Amino acid sequence: DGDDGYRLWLRYEPVTDPVVKGEYLKFSAFIRQSGKGEIMQSASQELQKGFKSLVNRNISRTNSSGNMSGGIVFKLLPRTTSVDDEGYRIQLAGGNVEISSKSESGILYGTFALLKHMQMQRPLKNLNITGSPKVRYRMLNHWDNPDGSIERGYAGSSLWKWYELPERVDPRYMDYARANASLGINGTVLNNVNASARFMSQEYIVKVAAIADVMRRYGIKTYLSVYFAAPKTLGGLPTSDPLDPSVRAWWKEKVAQIYKEIPDFGGFLVKANSEGEPGPQDYGRTHADGANMLAEAFSPYDGIVIWRAFVYKADPNADRFKAAYEEFVPLDGKFDPKVIVQVKNGPIDFQPREPFSPLFGNMPKTPLGIEFQLTQEYLGFATHAVYEAAIFKECLQSDTYVNGGGSTVAKVVDGSLHGYARTLMAGVANTGNVRNWTGHPLAQANWYAFGRLSWDHQLSAEQIAQEWTELTLTRNRKARENIVDLMLRSREIYVDYNTPLGLSRPWMGVHFAPEPWQNKGSRPDWTAVYYHRADSVGLGFDRTAAGSNALSQYRPEVQKQWNDPDKTPLSYLLWFHHIGWGKKLSTGNTLWDELCGRLYSGADSVMWMQKKWDLAKGNLDAQVYTDVAERLKVQRREAIWWRNAWVLYLQTFAKQPIPKDFQPPK
Ligand code: GCU
Repeated sequence: DGDDGYRLWLRYEPVTDPVVKGEYLKFSAFIRQSGKGEIMQSASQELQKGFKSLVNRNISRTNSSGNMSGGIVFKLLPRTTSVDDEGYRIQLAGGNVEISSKSESGILYGTFALLKHMQMQRPLKNLNITGSPKVRYRMLNHWDNPDGSIERGYAGSSLWKWYELPERVDPRYMDYARANASLGINGTVLNNVNASARFMSQEYIVKVAAIADVMRRYGIKTYLSVYFAAPKTLGGLPTSDPLDPSVRAWWKEKVAQIYKEIPDFGGFLVKANSEGEPGPQDYGRTHADGANMLAEAFSPYDGIVIWRAFVYKADPNADRFKAAYEEFVPLDGKFDPKVIVQVKNGPIDFQPREPFSPLFGNMPKTPLGIEFQLTQEYLGFATHAVYEAAIFKECLQSDTYVNGGGSTVAKVVDGSLHGYARTLMAGVANTGNVRNWTGHPLAQANWYAFGRLSWDHQLSAEQIAQEWTELTLTRNRKARENIVDLMLRSREIYVDYNTPLGLSRPWMGVHFAPEPWQNKGSRPDWTAVYYHRADSVGLGFDRTAAGSNALSQYRPEVQKQWNDPDKTPLSYLLWFHHIGWGKKLSTGNTLWDELCGRLYSGADSVMWMQKKWDLAKGNLDAQVYTDVAERLKVQRREAIWWRNAWVLYLQTFAKQPIPKDFQPPK
């Protein structure tokens, strides 16, 4: 009892099955390391922590190579072995549990896999667990500012205590690193993409170095977001033009300065010419010019440049959906090999449901990384339970058809479709300094799911939910079933009371509650009406040839799925079509009735979630139970409020009564 969520999925609760416990104790005589590398030490420490907590045994380390049995052996394989660098194998050999890999990181990942196995009280007999990542750069992006605030953060303030660094290194940095390493995450961008130039100052570089020292011990590289105009604002140069020799020299020197403090620095993440951020276009140059200049500065080192494709212009007659494709596809083949272009999963902005971005598959000569959002900017902040694995999977499994059927987004991203040398998955972090890391206890599952999928995108949302629930919440099978059920339906329920039938972006300002009536903003594309297009005729954004023709950015096979309003899956309908209020949909209901139906049943389904959660009560930690139960009450209240906002607003156009079945109870 009294678990405050701090330990996440690394709780190492005592093993209760006496047979299994006995078996584990048979391998607790020693840990034999292979060398004394830092990451190897972390792996040993983690095993020691795990054994102490799981089976109450102190287990000591040795470097001796004698013929001992009954322990755990780390075995570094020769570099020539034909397994993936970071992959691992766990098996029984010579009376020991042996964890082998070509790299120390692989040993660490194998260690966490073994501890997971033990947390689940699985037998060691016939032990043969292997793993290897499908994607090379698996990273979190923190949108954290130097003042400790977090852009779109809902779990307190930043984990990074810039004012204390570099002298004081908060022990929490290590727990952060452990949690990430346990999932196979191997990179972290510490600061907001709307970047402060301050991070390029020596004062901050040494602070970053202190954090990097911790991350390194867990196989995690540290990256920074950069402010493109830093040569001017920080360096005092007259320009930040990427083709200007003095600017190029400035970045070279800057990168060298960083490597002096952080020898394994990961690289830069860049948001340029997007939402008012400076960039190469300020000087008539292209994204490729900007990215390649930075890549050149990294040429002596291992680091990379991650250039974001999140761009659009404030043009009331354009369709923001099309912007990234229009700007980036012509640049395919023009980027330096050290550049990865990072693309959000959908064409707009982390909506509860979006079609996949049409950029995927359409830049065969440029490695495209994918960016998901873990923080719930459009998903109810920290009061709505939304299990996001469904969102990630939906996108990864989408077929782009660029090389015929089966050309999924996952295959674009993992490099197998176009042979990208560098592959990347990034998740915008949902962590903050609240004790349980993510605010909503169930939001921890989104961090977990992202990490697991960045390692292996073939895992199912359900498998991951099962794992997470067992490790984090309860060993009771029945309770787990109820919680997993709740998690798996949570996204669809949220969509129903928030953006049913393919509506998008009704939120303005802080992006919390739908305000579909919003028609004034500092830009036309920063209003709600720009997206939903409600009028006396109907609702939805026509993206067919008769409208913005955004559909033309997809392959014909994809167009065929979404071109015809009668055949478009209802979940995407209003993304691509303006539909009359009275039009009969495939369900037999008119658009208006179907909308009301979904909004009402969505809001009511939160009660179902509450019931599911309550069924697990007796098998949950009391504190976690209450925390989630209370948040679900808030979710229920907000879902009703949001449903009402939509219904009452749209009714002013549809001019129809709420269908009788869905009349709110008197
Ligand atoms: C969204 C978000 C911004 C963020 C931007 C980005 O628009 O609201 O806060 O800066 O995405 O991804 O760059």
